[in-house]
Amino acid sequence: MTMDVNDNPNAAQSENWNGDNGIRWVASADERDRILAPVADALFAAVALTAGSRILDVGCGCGVTSLRAAELVGANGSVTGIDISEPMLGVARARATAAGISNVTFVKADAQTYAFAPDSSDVVISRFGTMFFADLIAAFTNIRGALAPGGRLALATWQPLIANDWLMVPGAVLLNHTTMPEQPANAPGMFAQSNPDLVQGVLDAARYTDVTLTDARVTFTVGATVDDAVGYLGEAGPGRLLLETIPEGPARDAAIADVRAELAHHLTPAGVQLDGGIWLITARRAAR
Ligand SMILES: C[S@@+](CC[C@H](N)C(=O)[O-])C[C@H]1O[C@@H](n2cnc3c(N)ncnc32)[C@H](O)[C@@H]1O
Repeated sequence: MTMDVNDNPNAAQSENWNGDNGIRWVASADERDRILAPVADALFAAVALTAGSRILDVGCGCGVTSLRAAELVGANGSVTGIDISEPMLGVARARATAAGISNVTFVKADAQTYAFAPDSSDVVISRFGTMFFADLIAAFTNIRGALAPGGRLALATWQPLIANDWLMVPGAVLLNHTTMPEQPANAPGMFAQSNPDLVQGVLDAARYTDVTLTDARVTFTVGATVDDAVGYLGEAGPGRLLLETIPEGPARDAAIADVRAELAHHLTPAGVQLDGGIWLITARRAAR
């Protein structure tokens, strides 16, 4: 049997998140969750979950936000984490078991096409889990179907590269050694929901109401030491993309040495700190 793009519109992302990318995220799950903790804090402050609510965590990955939501909604509430990455869900399930959290369920499925039980969630949350859909309007329409009338959506997405010093600072150094590889415009990926007009248009088209985008600045501690920071930034998104264009050996070593020297300027007693910009996006399914 052959499968075409209509059966599996996010096949390439599925391969990526079940392959190299998923394996990288699993390997650094605790470190990433520590570095991205300020984003989770901002998202949970914005969404203010209440006891007894039913939560859907889209693109839940290794589950840290699902587990936090499960604790916040308590025994009378519930959380479903949905993700396409089996290795990342493996970490999520193991974490739930280790923490003795039983009001959370993890589902391996594509949130763009999964047949959610209608009206089954009071709040949809996502930290960086909605930026990889082939068809944004189809995906957000499908997710709206899981929300009860009046239910809420709360997402954290990245602002554009230029608003993210934690990427711009090492990136500018690397661009002295290489050039930026061609990136298709508006492709699924880290910055796919960085343009507020695009986000507003997508959520309007998917029939959400009360859409707001709040500009939030966060400080990332990208490593306890300069070496930790170099290691993390060399593995994360654009840093890895740029580094991979520089041949291994003396050329790459020289580029990394320059990044190390630059990051040393950002070393504080709390570690290497750089700022970033995220959007906190909230919306609702209209009440009936
Ligand atoms: C940047 S990671 C964020 C993971 C997690 N929310 C966190 O904050 O650590 C993006 C996640 O979205 C998931 N994902 C990508 N496309 C998806 C889709 N179509 N349906 C469900 N999950 C998807 C990936 O497998 C990955 O776990």
